Amino acid sequence: MRTTVGIIGAGPAGLLLARLLQNAGIAAVVLESRDREYVERRQRAGILEQGTVDVLRAAGVGARLDREGLTHDGIELRFDRRRHRVDLPALTGGRSVTVYAQTEVCKDLIAARLTDGAPLLFGAEALAVEGAGTERPRVRYRHQRRESVLECDYVVGCDGFWGVARAAMPPALTRTYERTYPFAWLGILADVAPSHDELVYAHSDRGFALLSMRSPSVTRAYLQVPEGTDAGDWTHGQIWDELDRRLEVDDPAWRLARGPVTATSVTPMRSYVHEPMRHGRLFLAGDAAHIVPPTGAKGLNLAVGDVVTFARALTTYTRTGETALLDGYSAACLRRVWQAERFSYAMTTLLHRAPDATPFDDRIQLAGLDRVTTSRAAETDLAEAYTGFPF
Ligand code: APR
Ligand code: PHB
Repeated sequence: MRTTVGIIGAGPAGLLLARLLQNAGIAAVVLESRDREYVERRQRAGILEQGTVDVLRAAGVGARLDREGLTHDGIELRFDRRRHRVDLPALTGGRSVTVYAQTEVCKDLIAARLTDGAPLLFGAEALAVEGAGTERPRVRYRHQRRESVLECDYVVGCDGFWGVARAAMPPALTRTYERTYPFAWLGILADVAPSHDELVYAHSDRGFALLSMRSPSVTRAYLQVPEGTDAGDWTHGQIWDELDRRLEVDDPAWRLARGPVTATSVTPMRSYVHEPMRHGRLFLAGDAAHIVPPTGAKGLNLAVGDVVTFARALTTYTRTGETALLDGYSAACLRRVWQAERFSYAMTTLLHRAPDATPFDDRIQLAGLDRVTTSRAAETDLAEAYTGFPF
């Protein structure tokens, strides 16, 4: 098989890239190792920056997002038994975020691609990328037990952290930057209306908790737990009890509503960047190139930034023969990536309790939260990063 752009992976990065290229009249083939059902059921984060929403709309896949997405104009920080609302539009010149699950974004993009009759192969596992440094890179893959080769002009590795594309970059030319955290997030989905109409990020001496949502009738919540925790280590009752303790405030109006838990999961916490994001005609996008801890809600939004940058660069090259944007892909993406890495790291260390935290560390965190909630400059910095940097 032969195509212009071989895309490995049908997560948000690969699917959106395929859509952007399709709209620009550039042929692509998407190879996805899992089946469609698995991809559409996978639970991930659910906060879309304003810029991400704008991109999805402009790409013609924003109809259901506009109907079902929940626009949020604020987040709440909780610490020291206090509540503080960060007013996002007031601090950022009108920017907000939208709650719409990543898995719904994927469903919309898959439906659009299949409606277009454009190639998207499920159950197609990329085995290796070859010839990245040549004019004709190839993806070797296995589909329906047969090995084949996809010959391309460009290959984009959108195959997530565990994918194969990154390995095709010569180690001598690459460098990775990494930090792991000694905790993870235990997440639940529950059939109960969210107890608050905006997201609540809570610092407590028992660790971090996050109250989020998927819809007006579905709560999503997370607890900081020790690294290596198994979701089965906690009963649903224990999870609700712990959320209750960590979200406690001196406000008689506050109450955590409980309901049936329909799913639990554990998310490890990691910061990771692979540089550069391009070698020859192989480009990396999304989790294949970088991971952020979920505290800043940046993973999906970074993936969108990468593929918008690639699509714009290739479209410009196709129309004008100008290669500057393709050549500058890695540098342009990495600038944004490092801002998101910085923010995600800062939010994570501000809100989580490390297992070896000293009383000094606790006081420093509280001083940091006090700063964010009393200095308009500090609060604006948080609001700008949370609502997203321009693409
Ligand atoms: N061949 C084909 N497909 C592969 C291969 C392979 N060898 N390896 C991985 N994949 C697929 C995975 O099954 C998955 O569907 O690549 C896809 C990668 O998708 P994601 O992990 O969702 O990564 P990405 O699209 O970069 O999305 C960005 O935002 O919220 C964050 O981390 C979260 O996934 C999210 C990310
Ligand atoms: C989520 O709803 O899954 C979510 C929200 C905010 C975050 C991370 C995850 O920072």
